[in-house]
Amino acid sequence: MGAAARAEELKVLLSRQKIARRVRALGAQITADYRGRPLHVIGILKGSWVFMADLLRHLDLDVTVDFLGFASYGLGTASSGEIRITKDLDASIEGLEVLIVEDILDTGRTFNHLERFLAAHRPKSLKVSTLLDKPTRRIVPVRADYVGFEIPDVFVVGYGLDFGHRYRNLPDIRIVQP
Ligand code: IMP
Ligand code: MG
Repeated sequence: MGAAARAEELKVLLSRQKIARRVRALGAQITADYRGRPLHVIGILKGSWVFMADLLRHLDLDVTVDFLGFASYGLGTASSGEIRITKDLDASIEGLEVLIVEDILDTGRTFNHLERFLAAHRPKSLKVSTLLDKPTRRIVPVRADYVGFEIPDVFVVGYGLDFGHRYRNLPDIRIVQP
């Protein structure tokens, strides 16, 4: 498939309605878990920004926000194993209760680097939420505290996720055939 394939030719894995229901439930769960405590939410660029925008509006908490640019993939669907900071944190997280918002947990390599990078900045607590999880792909044994959906080993796009920088704007999550 070329990167220019028409979006409507790609099979829908998770509809926008299904995503919306699950994100609302995750928001309620996180709100209950952090009740009465300020929460610093860090979105990992770029894949998580759509999920982050929706999730935040379901958090009934005293929330502050930052973004961290952490790139692991080049073009295509194969992990380069290389990790690069494309945007650093704006504010210190020392002593804060931090929730990381990720798009997808795949081999776990990015997550692993991310957790160690953030833990070194000494937050009071550090939890992780991911919209998608592909547990069968795991190479580094990491796990998220809040998972939207477990999905099989397929490459997906939409709702912030890209293939070669495209398709982030699709409202549903669709499968890119290898
Ligand atoms: P990991 O280091 O292998 O866990 O890779 C995680 C990163 O790979 C995610 O943050 C995504 O940017 C990218 N990624 C992994 N699987 C997919 C997918 O199915 N669609 C789009 N991006 C993906
Ligand atoms: Mg990513």
